[in-house]
Amino acid sequence: MSHIPSDPPSDLWATAEQADRQRIEQLRALLRHHAWRYYVLDNPEIPDAEYDRLMQELQALEARHPQWVTPDSPTQRVGAQPSAAFAPVEHRVPMLSIRTETDTSPQAALAFDARIRKELGLQPSDPPVDYVAEPKFDGLAIALHYDHGVLVCAATRGDGVTGEDVTHTVRTIAQVPLRLLGDGATIPWLEVRGEVYMRRDDFEALNERQRQRIAAGDKGEKTFVNPRNAAAGAVRQLDPAVAAARPLSFFAYGLGDVTPAPQGGPAFERHWHVLQALRAWGFPVSALAQRCVGGQALADYHRRIGQMRDTLPFDIDGVVYKVDRLDWQQQLGFVTREPRWALAHKYPAQEQLTRVLAIEVQVGRTGKLTPVAKLEPVFVGGVTVTNATLHNEDEVLRKDVRVGDTVIVRRAGDVIPEVVAVAPPLPEPRGEPFRMPSHCPVCGSAVVREPGEVDHRCSGGLFCPAQRKQAILHFAQRRAMDIEGLGDKLVDQLVDGGLVRTVADLYRLGLRQLAELPRMADKSANNLLAAIERSKATTLARFLFALGIRHVGESTARDLARHFGRLDAIMDASVEQLQQVPDVGPVVAASIRTFFDQPHNREVVEQLRACGVHWPEGQGAAAADVPQPLAGKTLVLTGTLPTLTRDEAKALIEAAGGKVAGSVSRKTDYVVAGDAAGSKLDKARELGVPVLDEAGLRALLAGSAVSP
Ligand code: IVH
Repeated sequence: MSHIPSDPPSDLWATAEQADRQRIEQLRALLRHHAWRYYVLDNPEIPDAEYDRLMQELQALEARHPQWVTPDSPTQRVGAQPSAAFAPVEHRVPMLSIRTETDTSPQAALAFDARIRKELGLQPSDPPVDYVAEPKFDGLAIALHYDHGVLVCAATRGDGVTGEDVTHTVRTIAQVPLRLLGDGATIPWLEVRGEVYMRRDDFEALNERQRQRIAAGDKGEKTFVNPRNAAAGAVRQLDPAVAAARPLSFFAYGLGDVTPAPQGGPAFERHWHVLQALRAWGFPVSALAQRCVGGQALADYHRRIGQMRDTLPFDIDGVVYKVDRLDWQQQLGFVTREPRWALAHKYPAQEQLTRVLAIEVQVGRTGKLTPVAKLEPVFVGGVTVTNATLHNEDEVLRKDVRVGDTVIVRRAGDVIPEVVAVAPPLPEPRGEPFRMPSHCPVCGSAVVREPGEVDHRCSGGLFCPAQRKQAILHFAQRRAMDIEGLGDKLVDQLVDGGLVRTVADLYRLGLRQLAELPRMADKSANNLLAAIERSKATTLARFLFALGIRHVGESTARDLARHFGRLDAIMDASVEQLQQVPDVGPVVAASIRTFFDQPHNREVVEQLRACGVHWPEGQGAAAADVPQPLAGKTLVLTGTLPTLTRDEAKALIEAAGGKVAGSVSRKTDYVVAGDAAGSKLDKARELGVPVLDEAGLRALLAGSAVSP
């Protein structure tokens, strides 16, 4: 990074204006460099906070000198005038499509190679042809125009001859350089072509946000069918701020119209060199692009990328082969509107049509009800799919999916298959509209949907088999009943083997039953029984927390215990009475009431008491003792933690009974160090005080022993 100066100019003769001017240029260069490191190379050199600081400094200077704001300034991604939005843009070099090979077997690559050799007039004795193979990104093609290295226009493909001006939205894409790096800035006119796309994780997150908005009553919102549609929709927004909120990405894969500099250049002999140049100018170029020698290498590439397809962070619908030598590309030319020198070789589609046989409702571990379409088996994205999620009731109703309908099913990556839309024609007559059941299909408890929430839930809690394992683990955890040694695997065995149906059954387990379980010896069985026995003596707060009532965490459990003192008082309290407790609002109160209104839950509580689970009752605050894992401990915070602010970290530590001190001494129990930690960290090392990162702190807060 030595090529970019980072200190303020030291020219003593410069006026204040000149100094500002120089600093502006310097900041722009710095920000361009660091944005490229961050967005394109995915390898930042400075912390985000430092980047933000540089950006704020530039914004302040530009606010002072608005006459110096240029469209390629890093501050100007969002907010350019949308006046030219969607105006026609002529492609001086037409944007062609590629010949598509729909035979998805790797062998089809050999036929392409044979054809190329024939058209080039090569003999069998001639050496193999060099190709470049690239993924075929599933997004939308974009042409970017750079005037002396500055982005001046971005256009869609349109009909290949005339596209639409989408500069205002494309410039919000952080991976698209507003100004070219290196010798890119010396080229009078450069047109770069590539694909705007949306990553799968960004797409899933966007749709999740959209679902929340719809649930909150936002009528204008909808979910997107797939990443390509979401990307296309974002690019064709009028408002660049809306586009900026939809995370888009970009890959460059070629050049269009280029006016070289008078001294010549850029001049390329091979497509591979074009890709290297694009990289040097600051564009993201896929690391999966590869040189292939001969047809068999293309077939191998097709197979290899096909195997990786599900795990890639973005959708591809095939691979593209291109003859590497540009003179040969020229010689091969075009048929109609497709170049002879390129081929798109497809993979099996990730979306297919099939019929809905039934809509079932599944109950997840947390009680969440998910409508699932049972489908006529269909081959999508490389596997046979018979179930596809419909997410929630709102989604089913909005898409209006009904039994008997033909639907589009999508399976991309390792994301679970989903029904994206109903496909016409609709059957005559249609099935009944979907309705969420009022009672849990697994245990029959009431189904509830809280205001403002998307999901329906089973209120069966401890009683519902679907939720049982989760509930038992919650019950047994350290901060609840603290049954040592009762982990994931054992709970699976106990529940699957029918030994434990409710948490009360834990207290009825016998040595013989346990010792017969696989991987369970007498000794471990005895240890478990002893741990279960010990857990019987507890506190009301721990017991309440252990029940796993939705919205009742440790601190609410403590408040409830302190306020009521006795379990029966809580079980019989009205919603109004419950709301007398500090921090218990209508949602929490209703949740407690619903829980104790389920006869099954009351029964489990009675059985637990009958088995000998007990706590001191009626003592108000004295009964409300929940564990304070940091009681008596002193911690010191230094540096920036990845997700917690200093105030948040402090609040969490104090809530756990700990103290936060300002400086490190021999009395300090732990130093929690984040990014850019300073002298406190040195001091801790000097004194041998244990140093934790945020994960270590969280482990400590959760009550587990940490080894720093
Ligand atoms: S090259 C003449 N390379 O596929 C060849 N296109 O029908 C020009 N596409 O929508 C295109 N990935 O946007 C090329 N690595 C890649 C590509 C790619 C996706 C898209 C392109 C266009 C379609 C071509």
